Amino acid sequence: MNNKEPVIKIRKLKIAFGSKVVLNEIDLDIFPGETLAVIGPSGTGKSTVLKVLTGLLAPTSGSVVIEGQETNSFDEVQWDELRKHMGVVFQYSALFDFLTVGENVAFGLRRHFSLPEEEIQERVEELLKLVGLPDAKDMMPAELSGGMKKRVGLARALAMEPQIVYYDEPTAGLDPVMTMTISRLIKKTQQKFNVTSLLVTHDMESVFTCADRVAMLYNGKIVQIGTVEEIKNSTNPVVRAFISGQELKKED
Ligand SMILES: Nc1ncnc2c1ncn2[C@@H]1O[C@H](COP(=O)(O)OP(=O)(O)O)[C@@H](O)[C@H]1O
Ligand SMILES: [Mg+2]
Repeated sequence: MNNKEPVIKIRKLKIAFGSKVVLNEIDLDIFPGETLAVIGPSGTGKSTVLKVLTGLLAPTSGSVVIEGQETNSFDEVQWDELRKHMGVVFQYSALFDFLTVGENVAFGLRRHFSLPEEEIQERVEELLKLVGLPDAKDMMPAELSGGMKKRVGLARALAMEPQIVYYDEPTAGLDPVMTMTISRLIKKTQQKFNVTSLLVTHDMESVFTCADRVAMLYNGKIVQIGTVEEIKNSTNPVVRAFISGQELKKED
């Protein structure tokens, strides 16, 4: 895997809010077709990484290269173009309340492509089948459970056939059964579409189910990066504490 050029190459990325340094010169590579999980306690900067990678937050310093393009000098038009290659599954599924499930899934397609209506409907039905909700097309988001909303969010993220998919805490707030369902869906998505994925989570179950490699973020640094096996067998006390579910105190 590592002899390929990374799809995402992060170098010495620093993010500071005033005097508070959230990411302290981190390096990270994400290779084609892999699912990399970024784990770490709440407030450690996981979502911040995703904000940088989607162009919502500019680095304080450092470099982010996506699909071979240095994004530091990007304007909004260039980010928009790059975002067409990216699907994002948000922490709070972020569906539009006033649109049906089908219209939510079709939203990006309608906005970015001029496809015949028949093709849009076909694509929407296919995606809803993929996420296990073949009959939900005409439902409203308010009628859905949390797990169903996450699945619709995933269908929407996949609608544009992205090369890169970002997941922000996709299993947060779900029961163990739905957590497993979503984790398997992430795995299936990777296998079916060969997407490059970045999974941000503090849920180890989903990491063990769908990640290839894992990076642990703590106090602004990546304290360890390795395969799922390497992380499971880590001797790093911070990593061990985190994966065994102990509370980690932040050093301020
Ligand atoms: N716009 C902002 N202004 C100031 N502080 C922020 C801002 N965004 C995030 N932070 C801080 O950065 C830290 C990391 O946040 P976040 O990336 O959301 O953590 P995580 O996703 O790991 O829970 C938190 O302490 C948060 O309060
Ligand atoms: Mg977060």
